[in-house]
Amino acid sequence: MVKKIILDCDPGHDDALALMLAYGNPEIELMAVTTVAGNQTLKKVTNNALSLATLIGMKNVPIAAGCDRPLVNEIKVAADVHGESGIDGTELPAPEVQLEDINAVDLIIDTIMNNPANTITLVPTGALTNIATAVRREPRIVERVKEVVLMGGAYKDSNASAVAEFNIIVDPEAAHIVFNAGWKLTMVGLDVTHKALATEDVIEELENINTVTSIKVKELMLAFRGMYKENQNFDFPPVHDPVTIAYLIDPTVMDVVNAPIDIELNGKLTRGMTVVDFSHVLKEEVPTNVGVSLDKQKFWNLIYDALRVIG
Ligand code: BDR
Ligand code: CA
Repeated sequence: MVKKIILDCDPGHDDALALMLAYGNPEIELMAVTTVAGNQTLKKVTNNALSLATLIGMKNVPIAAGCDRPLVNEIKVAADVHGESGIDGTELPAPEVQLEDINAVDLIIDTIMNNPANTITLVPTGALTNIATAVRREPRIVERVKEVVLMGGAYKDSNASAVAEFNIIVDPEAAHIVFNAGWKLTMVGLDVTHKALATEDVIEELENINTVTSIKVKELMLAFRGMYKENQNFDFPPVHDPVTIAYLIDPTVMDVVNAPIDIELNGKLTRGMTVVDFSHVLKEEVPTNVGVSLDKQKFWNLIYDALRVIG
């Protein structure tokens, strides 16, 4: 059955691939693409979303801009790994698709409330500001949403502090609201996404596919590689965000474990940490799951298939 999703993102090299996978896979129906400040300012990531939509010929999916800063924190961007534009490394077409004249938070709420209950899946791949704001403004969305599958957090790895992941540390209060809302939620964290590396064979396959989009993606991955090498000491860049979509398409891409997850808000050294209670000490029954493994080949094959469909 086709899965209807809202992609809430901050493009972003890996957000771009999440968008392409969602658009190019027949089992996913994109109901909306919403943007949030994160990898770069709201203006830049929204422009990137519109340019990416133009590149892949995505005309019938509404795109709306949301929150331009976290709930409490000051804005913090990731120019070190995504560049000044938020998606450095290739020339993207000027936007030919229009931005909706509605805030992303309202579009998220409307889409969920105007569709049958249990049909819309939320896929956040940026800071959780839009989603948390939607929950606060219209709490009924919590029981109507089918599930939330998000990229963020980690239980062992980290990339933005000794213990925290970027999307969560950007807006920990928003993450606290989203993780504690009570809906079915799957956390696709760094422990999994650090295995989704754009290695040399990936670059070769992107060349073999040889479409306008796959060549742009290749250029993006090479630039991403350079920035990740320089700033995170990775030989190959982890393509975090599309793991969420791949898991929705094929749950055998990633094993998940049921566990309570909470967000540390107060720790001087640990603010923004996703605390995963694998032993269920805090609670027995919870609706939260955490990804623990990745089938790399299945993951990349889904990306390649989507790029061939996009053409
Ligand atoms: C996450 O942070 C962003 O830079 C990426 O797009 C991804 O969503 C990884 O920590
Ligand atoms: Ca992202």
